[in-house]
Parts: sequence; C-alpha cells; structure tokens
Amino acid sequence: MTTSNSIRRKIVIGAGAAAAASAFPTSLVRAQPAKIKLGLLLPATGTYAALGAAITNGFRLAIDQQGGKLGGREIEYVAVDSEANPAKGPENTNRLVQRDKVDVLIGPVHSGVAMGMAKIARETGTLLLVANAGAGAVTGPMCAPNIFRTSFTNWQPTYPLGKVMVERKQKTAVWISWKYAAGEEAGQGFREGFEKAGGKVVKELWVPFPGVEFQALLAEIASIKPDAVACFFAGGGAAKFIKDYAAAGLKGKIPLYGSGFLTDGVLGGVKDEAQGILTTLHYADALPFKRDEEFRRDYAVAYKLQPDVYAVQGYDTGLLLAQAMKAVKGEIGDMKGIIKAMEGATVDSPRGKWTMSKAHNPIQDIYLREVVGEQNKYLSVAAKQLADPARGCKM
Ligand code: PHB
Repeated sequence: MTTSNSIRRKIVIGAGAAAAASAFPTSLVRAQPAKIKLGLLLPATGTYAALGAAITNGFRLAIDQQGGKLGGREIEYVAVDSEANPAKGPENTNRLVQRDKVDVLIGPVHSGVAMGMAKIARETGTLLLVANAGAGAVTGPMCAPNIFRTSFTNWQPTYPLGKVMVERKQKTAVWISWKYAAGEEAGQGFREGFEKAGGKVVKELWVPFPGVEFQALLAEIASIKPDAVACFFAGGGAAKFIKDYAAAGLKGKIPLYGSGFLTDGVLGGVKDEAQGILTTLHYADALPFKRDEEFRRDYAVAYKLQPDVYAVQGYDTGLLLAQAMKAVKGEIGDMKGIIKAMEGATVDSPRGKWTMSKAHNPIQDIYLREVVGEQNKYLSVAAKQLADPARGCKM
C-alpha cells in the first residue's frame, strides 16, 4: 500500500469516530471513500495498438456492467502508452506507481514490458493484473502473491498445436517468429508438443520485433520444403505475414499454422489470404456458450465492433478484479483478502469458465480454430483445462 493511500484510508476510517468527526469539517466527514485508481499500461501506438484498444474496451465493459464501480467504490483510470517498448517498461510503471499512485497496475501486451512491470510490482507490492503478455517468467521464476495473469503463457496455445499438426500428418515443420520472449517461448511450446507427438522441427527462423521483412525467410522456407509452417505473430505484423506468405506462393503448397494470435483481430484486413489457416488459442468465434453470445452482443452494442481474444482478456481482468473487490467490500488496502479472492476465483468468461493456477495463471481450454470468412471458427477442444507448467515458480 502506498503512503498516500494509507493516509487517505486513515481519514476515511477515522471519519466515523466521534473524535475524528469533531476534528474534521462536516463535508470531509461525509466525504465518499477515495476513488480506486487503475493504472493501464498498454500499447496505443505501433504494431500492437489494436490489441491495447481491445483490452481497454473489454475491461471497461466489465466494469460498466458492475455499475462503473468496484466493491461500491468509484474508480479513476490513468492510461499510459507502453509503445510495446520493453526499454520504457520500468520507467512507465514507476510513473504509474510513484507519481500517479495507482492502486492496481493493468497491462501489458508485450512480454518484454511485462518483465519491467513484474519487477516493480514485486518490489512495491502493487497489485498487477497481466491482461495479455505471456512471458513465462511472470508466472514462473518471478511469480509473486500480488501478480496475477488473466490471459495465457506463451507456452499454452502452441503446446497443443504440435499434436494437432501431427494428427494432420505433418511430420516436419519450420518455426518462424519475432525474436523476443513471446516468439521464443511459443516456439519452445510448439517444439515440445510437436516432437512429443512424433514431429520434427527442422528449422527455426527469426525476425527482429516489430520488423516485417519476411521475404528472404519465406524464400528459405520454399527451399526447405517442410510439410508445414508454424508461427507466432500478432497485430499489424501478423496481417502482413499472412499476406506475404500468400504473395510468396506458399499458400496452398505448405500449410500455415500458428498460435491463434496470428489470425485474431486481423481478419478485417486480410481476407482470401487467411482462409483455411488453422490455429490454437484460448478463445474462438462461434463458441457454443450462452455466456459468449451475451458478451459478444454487449460488446457489439457498446463499441460497434466484434470482440477478439484481447477484448475477452480485458473483460476477464475486469471480472476478476470486480469479484475480488466485492469480496473485500471495496477495501483496496486489504491485499490479503484480494489475493485470497483471486486465488479462489472461478472466472465465468466468454472463453469458458477458468480458474487460477497456483502460479496465478489461467487453467483453461485451448481451442482449435479455422479461418472461415472473417471468423476464427471453433472446430474442437485441442486441450482440456490446460495449466502452464510454471517452471521455476516458488510461492
Ligand atoms: C507477448 O509479447 O507476450 C504477446 C504479444 C502479443 C500477443 C501475444 C503475446 O498477441
């Protein structure tokens, strides 16, 4: 808890006592409890900008559905553009914690930014809700009681992809991705699942983040001639990769697979080139849940947009926080109570119900999806209630 928070809370708590009442003017005695300050560190610019917007939309929808309050307390948003820039992660997080004195940190999208946020959350004890970034370390060696993730680990969506591909008779694969934690860890998850099922990763190809110079690597894939290609790309870069893959003449020759970020939130901009791509992810279009139907309807009404996986993650972050704040009756300083509520929570998500693992990461179903028209159409459950191995987490 920050110093200003403890002062603020002391005033509020003392306000009920007769002694305090005589010491404070009536207006202060009757004052509402201080607002809960939410610090959002998400990308508003660059290749991940649309992802940040969807997370914010989803989060706000969940809070609005609670009457715009948390545990009966008013809230205030402070948003900072992360620029998906890991170098600025610590500085931006410090700004939110030290200068803006936020009660809760929410974000980021980029795994490298998450490392800086997690470090500062650990040092200051600030509650951190990771609404996207899959960096394994956050719920691995850096795990902490006050850090929770509502999204996935980078390992989670690609580990089941390997088995799916082997079942489709793909024996050899090339892995291609951006060279940073998300792509590397997704690649490790893919290799683990693919090789365990009997496949062989014959080559890994890397592009610096957020670069989109794919041509030379696509030519290399054409000369290697693997049975299939698997990848991690997301946002603007993913759209460009799908188009370049088709333009290089590979579509229809070497099937392209990926973690579902490849095709989530990008199908408005890529149409023919994406048809038939199979991916695995913790969300899909046309899931057979009433809960999802309701969410999609509410989201479309609120934003005149269709939701994607990022919107769901933002929404679930709001649901989790609202549930915990209700449990502690709006007492944001009751960190023990908040942690207990979050650890025991079942989140009734549009993606399907999920629970929190011991390392504070969702235990969730991973779906196989196929691009049909502008949808990532649900095909089947690729892995039931999958928990990340959380290697290195001691809590
Ligand atoms: C990440 O950096 O962890 C990341 C970014 C975008 C995604 C997924 C993971 O879509």
